[in-house]
Parts: sequence; C-alpha cells; structure tokens
Amino acid sequence: MRVILDTDMGMGAPGSEIDDGFALALLLADDTFDVELVTSVNGNIDVESGTYLSIELLQRLGRPEIPVVRGAAAPLVEPEKVRAAPDSVREAFGHHVPAPGYAAAEIARRVVESPGEITIVAIGPLTNVAAAIALDERVAGAVKEIVVMGGVFLGHTNARRMPGEFNWWVDAHAARAVMRSGAPTRLVGLDVTTKVRLTREHAATMAASGRPFGQFAGDCTIAWLDRLGREHPGEEDAGGSCAMHDPLAVAAISRPELLTWAPAHVDVVSNDEVGRGIAVADLLTGHDAPPANTTIATAVDADAFMAYFLDRITAY
Ligand code: BDR
Ligand code: CA
Repeated sequence: MRVILDTDMGMGAPGSEIDDGFALALLLADDTFDVELVTSVNGNIDVESGTYLSIELLQRLGRPEIPVVRGAAAPLVEPEKVRAAPDSVREAFGHHVPAPGYAAAEIARRVVESPGEITIVAIGPLTNVAAAIALDERVAGAVKEIVVMGGVFLGHTNARRMPGEFNWWVDAHAARAVMRSGAPTRLVGLDVTTKVRLTREHAATMAASGRPFGQFAGDCTIAWLDRLGREHPGEEDAGGSCAMHDPLAVAAISRPELLTWAPAHVDVVSNDEVGRGIAVADLLTGHDAPPANTTIATAVDADAFMAYFLDRITAY
C-alpha cells in the first residue's frame, strides 16, 4: 500500500510530544507499506522544526531515502495558532535539507497521478490535506483513503480552553474542509486514542534496551512524561503514562480489526470563538439523519494494540 504520512513531528526536540515519532516508526516497521513521502505541518511544533525532526528521525530509523517535503507554516485562516521555533532544534538539526516543493502541491500531484492508490495518514492539523484538496478538485476523488488522527466524537474534552481535539482545534477550517470534501476518510478520535497508553515502565524498558531507537524513544518518552507531570498535573495519569494517539491511526491501516468502526456524518465547528474545533458526529440513528460522510473509530482493544505496538517498536 502506498502511504503518505502528514505529521507535526515533535519527537527529538527536548521534552516535546512523542506520538508522531512512534507513529512513523510503527508505519515503517510494516513492510506491506510503501511510505513514499513524509510531509510536515505546523501543529505541536512549528513547521520548520517538524521538518528537520522528521528528516532526523527517518535517518535514525534507517530510511533516509524517504523524502520529507515541508508543509503549511500556519493554519488556513488563523495564523496566530503557530508555535515559536525552538532554537535548539535549528541548532541541532538545521543542516537537514527537505526535498523541494510544498507539501500540499506534492500530495496533490502524487494523488492525482495515481488515482485510487495513495493512502494519506494525517496525524497533525489538516492544513496540508485541505490545501491539497483545494489545489486540484480531483484530489478528493482520487485519494484511496485519508486516515485522520483528529476530533473527539463520543465525548468531550471538557476543557473550555480547547473544547475540540488539538489537531482540529489548531485548524478547524481545514478539518471542516476535509470532512466536506467527499474524500473517503476514517477518523480516529481522542475519545479512543486516550485509551492506549504508554507507561513510564514501558519507557524505562525501552530506554534500557540498549537498542539505538528504543533507547532514544524511551528517553524522549520519559522527558515528555516529566513535562506532562509538571505542566498538566490534573490530567489523566499525568506523568505516569501518555496516550499513543497517532500510532493508533497507523493501526487503522495495519491492524484495523483492533478498532471498532461505525459510519457517521461528521462536521466541525470552525466559526465560533468558544466552540472552535468541536466535531459534531451524527451516528445516523435518527429518522432524519444525514448521509454518512465518514467512518469513525468508536472503541479499541487497548491491550491488543499495546502488545502489537510494543512488539514492533522494541524490534528496532
Ligand atoms: C493529537 O495532537 C497532538 O498533540 C498529537 O500528536 C496528536 O496528533 C492529539 O490530540
Ligand atoms: Ca500529531
């Protein structure tokens, strides 16, 4: 299966979010996937840093030939949702040079040239994907599938600051454009991804493995857990474990049977100051339900997923 990974890669920057890195590692661990392109997007981290970190991680994972193309530096409509670039990332990895072009154009070109062949796994804000769809009206019909980590469907974050899930909160307009595009999508939302958790014990085992990636990833995880414990002490198991949001989106293509799926009609609030990024998921049970426009994950076999995840990751 031909795959493009669109990511806001943070793994490798001190104390930053790690799940995009684990998602890339999990994807590359499965040789049924031909990962032909990685694209970067502003989200967890600024796009320049995310681009460098993606190249660095591909080298670390022994796949330096996979091109990384830089993507959107800001959300479609709200440019203030941009993280500052940490100097440490540019200093350490600024020698990396991405492949030429822009992510949206490269995604559009590849998808249109090979109708029905390319799956996009989108694990950051949907800015690049929405831009690709806007660039060429054939993209939505030609893409094989877009698998998205984003949204929260059977629940709520219960946080006024960010009532929607992070990726859709950062670029709600992009999420809405993708959901309204008619492209085939499957969505793995926060209500399910928070069930799959990497613990401090898992991280310590990785860090002590003596294997190059395991050691690096374990150290990154411990730094991330320390930060979560310090900065978000009220969150679920803060400092003790963290959700493997983005790797679960990879499992949607590698191990779809580990998730439960349901058809839904999903739209996104984008024009409201308080509700921006909230997903409205109609589960099609009412007599006047709209037609399905997507498939959402509603549950996961968390133990089976973690067994699969750890088995693949510790093999590096
Ligand atoms: C999503 O936001 C990011 O912090 C994670 O990498 C994941 O893609 C979870 O809400
Ligand atoms: Ca991400």
